[in-house]
Amino acid sequence: MTMKFLVLHGPNLNLLGKREPAIYGSQTLADINSALENLSMDLGCELSFFQSNNEGELIDAIQSAVRECNGILINPAAYTHTSIAIRDALSAVGLPAVEIHLSNIHCREMFRHTSMIAPAAIGQISGFGGDSYLLGLRALFNYVKKL
Ligand code: DQA
Repeated sequence: MTMKFLVLHGPNLNLLGKREPAIYGSQTLADINSALENLSMDLGCELSFFQSNNEGELIDAIQSAVRECNGILINPAAYTHTSIAIRDALSAVGLPAVEIHLSNIHCREMFRHTSMIAPAAIGQISGFGGDSYLLGLRALFNYVKKL
């Protein structure tokens, strides 16, 4: 059966392209999603995409994914550093999740060095701009294929 993955984008990522381009690059969210879509066709998997600025909506999407998806690619954005609720949702559904960041959170402000999400993820990819998502999809796909 075709593998299906949920791609979740957290707050302010709808502004990519205009938002602090020196840190986050010039790609828009639509550009990133379409690069992911192209890669998914090469890999032979299906993707669904969701962006929200709202913590509860991200949690609802994670809970719904358990019925439809084999794994989750998530850039929790600023919720990375604060959201025990998103981490608990990932742990609760038990789907393999890869944590994505465009910027390298470990060489930015101290408050970005801590991820609440990381312990609930199979891995984290941080610092490669839009390529972080593509690397993350490959990693998630290969991980799930071996299950
Ligand atoms: C981010 C890093 C976070 O610290 C920040 O709050 C974001 C984006 C990234 O992709 O680099 O909104 O997750």
